[in-house]
Amino acid sequence: MSKDSPKKIFIKSYGCQMNVYDSNRIKNLFEPKGYSETTAVEEADIIILNTCHIREKAVEKVYSDIGRIEKKRLKASSGKAKFVVAGCVAQAEGLEIKKRAPVVDYVVGPQSYHNLPLMIENKNEFINDEFLQNEKFKNLIFKSSNKVSEFISIQEGCDKFCTFCVVPYTRGAEFSRSVKEIKQEIRNYISDGIQEVILLGQNVNAYHGEGKNNKSVDLAYLMNVISEFDNIKRIRYMTSHPNDMNQSLIDAHLSNTKLMPFLHLPVQSGSDKILKKMNRKHTRKKYFEVIEKLKNKRPDIALSSDFIVGFPGETDKDFYETMDLIKEVKFAIAYSFMYSPRPGTPAYKLTDLDKSSKKARLTALQSLLKEQQIEYNRSFEGKCIEVLFDREGRYKDQYIGRSIYNQSVFTNSKKNLIGKIYNSKIARSTDFALEGVI
Ligand code: SAH
Ligand code: SF4
Ligand code: F3S
Repeated sequence: MSKDSPKKIFIKSYGCQMNVYDSNRIKNLFEPKGYSETTAVEEADIIILNTCHIREKAVEKVYSDIGRIEKKRLKASSGKAKFVVAGCVAQAEGLEIKKRAPVVDYVVGPQSYHNLPLMIENKNEFINDEFLQNEKFKNLIFKSSNKVSEFISIQEGCDKFCTFCVVPYTRGAEFSRSVKEIKQEIRNYISDGIQEVILLGQNVNAYHGEGKNNKSVDLAYLMNVISEFDNIKRIRYMTSHPNDMNQSLIDAHLSNTKLMPFLHLPVQSGSDKILKKMNRKHTRKKYFEVIEKLKNKRPDIALSSDFIVGFPGETDKDFYETMDLIKEVKFAIAYSFMYSPRPGTPAYKLTDLDKSSKKARLTALQSLLKEQQIEYNRSFEGKCIEVLFDREGRYKDQYIGRSIYNQSVFTNSKKNLIGKIYNSKIARSTDFALEGVI
């Protein structure tokens, strides 16, 4: 890889925001070596799929994409692009990828991808799936991708071991970065002009990084430190576990004025019996208690969640308990999935429910959630709401931003709104977004 040669890298992210963050870092690692990003596979010298292992469907999508992309790679004039599988499938399936997809040249896990440029340069190492969290972050390069809002991984991995979930195996044990390292990363982005940080972690509120005098500090502390940057106007965080919503974090929703009134707090199920089988380590009551404490501090907080339907042993009664929880909490937005048995997880050996009943439950649950989302968005019609605009819309003179409650808001303007915070009057709401007038 010679310096300054006009080479191209194609990178596709699957799965969660953490993979988006990692893809940005991979891109940054290759930039000093003369690579720039392309969205055309045919142009690429390196093709990277940054993959997700969370459900069977996500994995199947990767293998079918490998086949599809390989055809394009062969058609391309050079035909010599290096094919890399990174991310959670790389970690979980490692050498098996070589068997199922021999066209793949390199496999690199989510905690060792800083080694990828060297692997490609030396051409001798097919796989690196070591857990090198500490070393990784010290060797990454941080350049802003959006110029307004930036994801920042502050915590990785998980020690919770929910019985359905692959994350503890693909991302490894819980690891928190130091306050100093995170501040340094944010400084880099500030010099690129960003105004919002979205702090990421598989269990972001289990954050316990090193602060001053080598003492461990929590997420609320970290967010207070970040608030001291004048240029940072907004802070968000995801994904949280109900058991790690400590009092200081709940208090921060009142005291930290830069912390946005939105919380993604997955509950998975409303049935105590199922929560226990899932090893979630919290009850339905505990979830309600956390929400109540939050609402005492910040009554307008917008809530979001994840749900799994059709976990082994889930009866109609269990399912209705989940529906009932949704009706009681009222979510601004939520994500729901049919249970997918994952090899290597404890729930894998339990008897899976039949697909048609899982599907029927998912349809019912999603229509309830959609109703709530529409109702939530409709409640903003005619009201004014603060929006940070971060990108151009699909149409001429259209800009898109996020409300403080994390809704997408689109607005027409002759003036460029990117990077600006404006009070917008909501003229209309759709299922997924709001239309605002400045
Ligand atoms: N750390 C977060 C979420 C991690 S994965 C948490 O604790 O909630 C994101 C979501 O994928 C989960 O919240 C869950 O709803 C879903 N998910 C994980 N494993 C799954 C599986 N085996 N089948 C279906 N959905 C799953
Ligand atoms: Fe997976 Fe549970 Fe950990 Fe979330 S808390 S990442 S669902 S094991
Ligand atoms: Fe998927 Fe890995 Fe994220 S399994 S959801 S990409 S942590």
